[in-house]
Amino acid sequence: TTERTLVLVKPDGVARGLTGQVLARIEAKGYRLADLRLLHAERAVLEEHYAEHRGKPFFEPLVEFMLSGPVVAAVVEGDRVIEGFRSLAGTTEPTTAAPGTIRGDLGRDWGQKVQQNIVHGSDSPESAEREIGIWFS
Ligand code: CMP
Repeated sequence: TTERTLVLVKPDGVARGLTGQVLARIEAKGYRLADLRLLHAERAVLEEHYAEHRGKPFFEPLVEFMLSGPVVAAVVEGDRVIEGFRSLAGTTEPTTAAPGTIRGDLGRDWGQKVQQNIVHGSDSPESAEREIGIWFS
């Protein structure tokens, strides 16, 4: 079934000039860009986006990291795209993410308090609709 997911190219990905590669991998896989923006996120948007991590030790550093530069937000559409994009992205820690994935090929550990892992992708249909509403309202 056709789904939509929210993809973010995080500040590390944008700053390193990886936006094109991320979008190229999404398009090469056969998914469709339904909406796309480059923006500086507002703190309130990030606190809502990461609401489930509130109270965790990496929450504040994560918000600060996401405020550190521009991000690219995209709505990506396709059959099983939620699971499919997470598979393209690879696991959270770039050091150990599988080669062939965005994080595995393009990321590594930078010794920061937060995993600077290039991209975000929604983890369920409910999260996707919630997150798309936050970033594209
Ligand atoms: P993301 O998928 O955007 O969701 C939450 C983010 O928090 C995650 O990517 C990482 O950037 C970061 N993160 C998750 N777990 C940890 C952790 N244990 N330590 C530091 N950062 C984390």
